[in-house]
Amino acid sequence: MTQMHNTNNRVDVPDFYAYPAAPLAAVEHHGDFLHLSWDDGQRLHCHRFWLRENALGLGGIDPATREGLLDPADLTDAMTMGLADVTDAGDLSILWQPEAQRCVYHAGWLRHIADGQHLPESWLPKPEAWDAKILPQPPRRQASGALESDAELCEVLNDLIRYGVCVLENAPSEEGFLNKLAARIGPVRDSNFGALWDVIADISLAGDAKTNTTANTGLRLGPHTDLPTREIPPGYQFLHCLVNEADGGESTLTDGAALVQELQTYHAADYELLSTRRWVFFNRGPGIDHRWSAPIIDTSGMHAFPTLRAFYPVRAFPDMPECDIAEAYEALRRFHKLADDPRFELTFRLGAGDIMCFDNRRVMHGRKGFSGSGKRHLQGVYIDRDEILSRARALNRSHGPEVNGAGR
Ligand SMILES: [Fe+2]
Repeated sequence: MTQMHNTNNRVDVPDFYAYPAAPLAAVEHHGDFLHLSWDDGQRLHCHRFWLRENALGLGGIDPATREGLLDPADLTDAMTMGLADVTDAGDLSILWQPEAQRCVYHAGWLRHIADGQHLPESWLPKPEAWDAKILPQPPRRQASGALESDAELCEVLNDLIRYGVCVLENAPSEEGFLNKLAARIGPVRDSNFGALWDVIADISLAGDAKTNTTANTGLRLGPHTDLPTREIPPGYQFLHCLVNEADGGESTLTDGAALVQELQTYHAADYELLSTRRWVFFNRGPGIDHRWSAPIIDTSGMHAFPTLRAFYPVRAFPDMPECDIAEAYEALRRFHKLADDPRFELTFRLGAGDIMCFDNRRVMHGRKGFSGSGKRHLQGVYIDRDEILSRARALNRSHGPEVNGAGR
């Protein structure tokens, strides 16, 4: 099934999408389950309590919010399915007892579940790991398109999910422009650096107590991910280049997904150490004390790729048996050398009006050092992965023919 799902205000399904007709071929009743089938052989097995929770009527789904109303404690053995059959339109009809009330379930909605289109990975492109040969330059798209066209924003979000990176170009060099872009996607994620933060390189600040991050110095920043000090680091990062007249300071990007694959394939012992031995990440500053302990390659969570926690400025203490520390450091050295290897790392210069957008938990970013003078001013925001994925699914369901029903 590849039909697009537009929004729908009719109360005929437990959400706000409009589903195409998908007439059922048959319904069979076996104990607590209904076995639904379609002419092409697709099947769906539905438990009675799940059907009851999703009933339109009988206190199942709230017609205003389309959320479930039934407290599981109120599900009773008396809620049984009487006659279950197929309506003239091909939908499922159940006569519920003890109320003797008929409820109809849209067969197109049932079919989208049978096809797996209700799962988190659906309606999204499949992530593709890349190295410098597969993706010599990040995909580039027009900032104006992302701002003005849902179809073009959909392509940007699909790049961000597929490759973990996209550069928007020709954005106005105006401070705060990222707020306009973020408003097209979802709420920004705040942190102790502020909701909209500045990266203003001032080489005079290196080693100076006036800055609370190495980002605001002229120092080289090796490949890293931001804020591993948090239980869940920010999902995506948007860096808007307002001015870049500095001598040096090229940007780098390395796909952590490719690094993980390389380690798993050729350096299994390193992968084991990096994905199981923990470090304490510690974001120190006056009045703040953010900390989290986790492996560099954090495989908790259900996303296709692990979360990389790879920011050495805030990796503060080993949190592992003493006998593992030497080997863990060896693995760490090889990991960071690999991340900075031209085989994996893209190096390019951000110009005024470029916005570098990337998956902060997957793609490592960095910056070459500054060797001279010249202004360099970037602004950044974080937007969590949940917001990116939600917007992408909603847009792909109505604008993205290339990923319809994707992920299955
Ligand atoms: Fe950073």
